Amino acid sequence: MPLKSLGVDHVGVAVADLEKATTTYRDLLGFEIAGGETLETRGLAVRFVTVGDSRIELIAPTRADSEVSRFLAKNGEGLHHVAVRVHDLDAALRDLKARGAKLIDETPRPGAHQTRVAFVHPKGAHGVLLELVEHRREPPT
Ligand code: CO
Repeated sequence: MPLKSLGVDHVGVAVADLEKATTTYRDLLGFEIAGGETLETRGLAVRFVTVGDSRIELIAPTRADSEVSRFLAKNGEGLHHVAVRVHDLDAALRDLKARGAKLIDETPRPGAHQTRVAFVHPKGAHGVLLELVEHRREPPT
């Protein structure tokens, strides 16, 4: 089965300081900020920047050993992942596994805003960390 995607859900940008990045995107670049939250289990805090029907997700670490801290130490700030929206994440993961795709998550984990997410390894997607997102409800507008 081809991957049935409903569109680009968001693009993730790793930032060192969430407040500074929010100020830049809102006050300098002129975007609207559509809320955010802290995902303590994953050691990160996110804020969403509205881009039409899609979003930019600013991601900052909340502790030194989080996945984003490691990324920042290695690469500095910048593009972190591309997230595509799928209708049925379990089915998408089953299909990807069956085709031998290189997955970081074999099972979904909790994402921001009541979503379930799973990541495809950048080594299996030509250098792009790919996130699959399933919304349980419509994202806040
Ligand atoms: Co994301």
